[in-house]
Amino acid sequence: MKSLVIGDLNVDIIVSGAPQLPVLGHEIPCEDIQTVMGGAASIFACRLAQLGGNVDIFGKLGNDVNGSIVLKNFRSSGVGVDKVKVLVGFKTGITISLTYPKNRALITYVAGIDNLTKFDVDPEIFLGYNHLHVSSIYILRKMLSSFSWLFSEAKKLGLTTSLDTNDDPLNKYEYIDEILRHVDIFLPNDKEAKAITGKNSVRAALEKLNEKVPVVVIKQGRKGAIGNDGKRTFKVKPLHIKPVDTTGAGDSFDAGFIYYYLHKNQDFKASLEFANALGALSCLYVGGAEERITEFDVIKFMAQQKGMEKTR
Ligand SMILES: Nc1ncnc2c1ncn2[C@@H]1O[C@H](COP(=O)(O)OP(=O)(O)OP(=O)(O)O)[C@@H](O)[C@H]1O
Ligand SMILES: [Mg+2]
Repeated sequence: MKSLVIGDLNVDIIVSGAPQLPVLGHEIPCEDIQTVMGGAASIFACRLAQLGGNVDIFGKLGNDVNGSIVLKNFRSSGVGVDKVKVLVGFKTGITISLTYPKNRALITYVAGIDNLTKFDVDPEIFLGYNHLHVSSIYILRKMLSSFSWLFSEAKKLGLTTSLDTNDDPLNKYEYIDEILRHVDIFLPNDKEAKAITGKNSVRAALEKLNEKVPVVVIKQGRKGAIGNDGKRTFKVKPLHIKPVDTTGAGDSFDAGFIYYYLHKNQDFKASLEFANALGALSCLYVGGAEERITEFDVIKFMAQQKGMEKTR
């Protein structure tokens, strides 16, 4: 079983411990600045590889320091990088994240991330893979009208497909109906699921999405997750944690689900529980997928949580 991931690749420059928002004409101090790998697709691929999944990633990076940070993370996690294009004279995408205790202010160099077009993807790229996962289609605006074609080409070659749209900054979710026709597993969060379906409740959104997609899982942050595999609806309760940084929780959840459900061929409910645990576990570490989390770590964490439940 081998997966290919397509989506957003970039670095996050995380500025923490500043006493206030920056003010024009003034300098403010901060406690730390870290450059870490970012991008939903990158985080998904790293998590899947850390668990033991056989996975490659496709995307473009610049031949610069930030590009090497992303590549280093792929390599140390075990993600195959043969399909990554490193381009001279091209700048890797960057998001600067000014983090404050209750919220973040983000500035993104978009051109470095929104760099894929239909002409970059030859359907032959899918040969040798069993599964395609795509992340963050609404950041990849130049590719947006071609995702339906991309998924249908993958399906023609016999791959299964999964999608996490992530947020649409324009809140329009264009092209989604035609894209979902070629998607086997859809993994939105609750806000995205409601916006896409126009439904007010998560259950109603789930039902509507299941009319188009066989397997749907809706992530609900600190409320856990709910999903339906075309046969039954299961809800998983959130695990008890004190989150340190929720960056990448959704992408880690997705990787946990795809690993267990497809790479390990486990049943739907067990896969939801595994994903829910990996999502929670990822909230205990700063950054998207810097801290390595293995299958053993997730199983151990689930056993600890079960033990705590008994004493509660
Ligand atoms: N505070 C929390 N407590 C327990 N589990 C959590 C918490 N936050 C997230 N999770 C787990 O991680 C999963 C994914 O988180 P979330 O719903 O925030 O995804 P998302 O909105 O797609 O996130 P992202 O910002 O990464 O795109 C949840 O469904 C849950 O399983
Ligand atoms: Mg998400």
